[in-house]
Amino acid sequence: MNAHASVLPGYSHYQATRDAARVPLHLHEILGALSHAIDMTEGQPPGHSVRCCWIGMKIGTQLGLSEPQMADLYYTLLMKDLGCSSNAARICALYLADDITFKHDFKKIDGSLNAALQFVFQKTGLQSGLSERIRATLNILRNGGQISRELIETRCHQGADIAAKLRFSRDVQDGIRSLDEHWNGNGKPEGVAGRDISILSRIALVAQVVDVFFQDGGAQASCAEISGRSGTWFDPDVVQAFERCADDQSLWEGLITDTEPLIYALAPRLSAFAVDDDYLDDIAQGFADVIDAKSPFTADHSRRVTLYADMIAEQVGLSADHRRWIRRAALLHDIGKLAVSNQILDKPGRPSEEEWISIRAHPAHSEAILARVSAFRDIAPVAGAHHERLDGKGYPKGQTEATLPFEAMILATADVYDALSADRPYREAMSYDAAMGILNAELGAAHHPLFVQALANGLQLLAGPIMSELSAQDVGGGLATTNSSA
Ligand SMILES: [Fe+2]
Ligand SMILES: [Fe+2]
Repeated sequence: MNAHASVLPGYSHYQATRDAARVPLHLHEILGALSHAIDMTEGQPPGHSVRCCWIGMKIGTQLGLSEPQMADLYYTLLMKDLGCSSNAARICALYLADDITFKHDFKKIDGSLNAALQFVFQKTGLQSGLSERIRATLNILRNGGQISRELIETRCHQGADIAAKLRFSRDVQDGIRSLDEHWNGNGKPEGVAGRDISILSRIALVAQVVDVFFQDGGAQASCAEISGRSGTWFDPDVVQAFERCADDQSLWEGLITDTEPLIYALAPRLSAFAVDDDYLDDIAQGFADVIDAKSPFTADHSRRVTLYADMIAEQVGLSADHRRWIRRAALLHDIGKLAVSNQILDKPGRPSEEEWISIRAHPAHSEAILARVSAFRDIAPVAGAHHERLDGKGYPKGQTEATLPFEAMILATADVYDALSADRPYREAMSYDAAMGILNAELGAAHHPLFVQALANGLQLLAGPIMSELSAQDVGGGLATTNSSA
């Protein structure tokens, strides 16, 4: 326990959970569970990435890949959509559409001009006025090739960059980067063709389309789609391998049951990643990048909240281990935002009642996602309570000072300070004095005085007398000045 424990409010969730038997940490289980968050952003039914892993591993076995290749294939399949959040904001802006539904439907079109045109007319700006819709549609028709190349490029490169942070091999990074390349060279972003495309990408693309069409139309629809695109989108050898797998009922049975245990059973033979505390920090940081890429208004939000939360934790004298635990909760506190459309997150002006319900659900999503991950289960209730207040007027549960872990109070103060001191869609960043004025006005109601004071002390130490002239950009150590709906 730390030196200041007696003056800390509420209870410590860290203290309550730290003595629980430490479960061994397996990389495949951590990433399998976190892949559900990625599925949400892609608008896919939960478990899409896990099912792709099941399908792709069957194909890889049929093709006789070596054991190291199978290990790389496993993680490519599971993490293929890591860059998913990075183009969400631009899809909303370009297509005036809900990014999550849009992405789900986009995976189903076959790439012909006819299908693409139909898609654009059907999907663009359905909620917008006619003139706005025509303008957006014309822009897409004129610049469609360039736009979709950029969207895919952003997504693929971001995915590969995060895979590097997660310590995956160059082959896995390339597998993710080339996911949308097609056998005939008409894919994106590079237009690479044939065997120049990573075999991992060629398999992952087939696996992805198998699952999307299986979910909507069953095995027959799925097989028809795959053979129909053989030689255009898909490598004919991979298609043949898939067709051999498709004759085996176990492939399809694995897709209608709980697929997670099936793919976990495949993992241990392939690789033995030791997940220690340093690696767990890297995983939290990698997923914070996925979260922050979701919206230009939240870029670097998770990293700055982590900085502020750590500052508070240091000021109140928490131990090094305790601070590390809080930093992970701060990095992942908004992971539930991956389930919220950018049309709502980036909306200038007040959200409607319905939109507000969707926004207010994000901490509960964060808690549910993290509770699935054995390594992050202990931080789940803290992350899920970052919008609670001492007076019970917060959300989602309306907890009070008596029931809140103090680590959640630290996150709440750090989160609100960052939201105030960064730009929002409808107002510019507030100065340090203005933001602290708002926090101080709600002492005892929203924020605990101890933690607001600790934040002020930490910021003063960091920036000294010029504090009031600094923006979030400066305080964040050169991070972009951006907003959060927190
Ligand atoms: Fe939040
Ligand atoms: Fe936040």
